[in-house]
Amino acid sequence: MRKLTYYIACSIDGFIGDPQGDASAMFAFVDEEFFGFLAAEYPETIPTPGRRQTNIDHLPNKRFDTIVQGRASYDLALREGVTSPYAHLREYVASRTLGESPDPNVEIIADDLPGRVRALKAEDSAYGVYLCGGAEIAGELLDEIDELIIKTYPIVQGSGMPMFAAGFSITQFALESVRTFGNGVLVRTYSRKR
Ligand SMILES: NC(=O)c1ccc[n+]([C@@H]2O[C@H](COP(=O)([O-])OP(=O)(O)OC[C@H]3O[C@@H](n4cnc5c(N)ncnc54)[C@H](OP(=O)(O)O)[C@@H]3O)[C@@H](O)[C@H]2O)c1
Repeated sequence: MRKLTYYIACSIDGFIGDPQGDASAMFAFVDEEFFGFLAAEYPETIPTPGRRQTNIDHLPNKRFDTIVQGRASYDLALREGVTSPYAHLREYVASRTLGESPDPNVEIIADDLPGRVRALKAEDSAYGVYLCGGAEIAGELLDEIDELIIKTYPIVQGSGMPMFAAGFSITQFALESVRTFGNGVLVRTYSRKR
């Protein structure tokens, strides 16, 4: 089975955005050093318009060939008129309301989200599946998550959108690596203990 990796940006106190989910307060920390790391290690996690703007559109995927996101996260792109925000990946959007996909590269998952994700994980590929978020589908897919890559920005918010919208339940992860950056950003990788 290949891995489902929840790769996410959050505050020190574990929020992925403001109470409405807006994560733009974190953008300020994507400085030259940190962007260089993202482009070198996770180029496919940068949306297509951002890759074009920063001239990294030619970089091949390193870890993922597939992305799963919730409709509310996908909406951020749709509102900008972008129907395929990760054109370099196979895109899946969980939604019971969207109906027909607005883009040939985007497949809508309306039913049995965990089962569809298990089927993606069972595919034979050297690349993993990138769970983009947001909180709602991360909460629903927690049992399927094999790896966490958490970009922690040096801010405390007090409140906001949590990393998982889920009920209380303890799930253990093992710390695999930590990278630190000059501006106080941390990137921690955890694997799930099964
Ligand atoms: N900090 C970060 O790195 C980061 C990363 C990603 C997202 N975000 C933030 O997260 C926010 C969105 O998160 P969110 O928790 O509000 O929403 P979300 O998880 O992105 O999407 C929720 C939507 O997914 C669909 N959905 C949920 N469960 C489903 C299921 N079992 N089957 C089919 N469809 C299902 C529903 O869409 P329908 O209503 O259409 O049925 C639901 O409204 C955004 O504001 C974004 O900024 C932050």
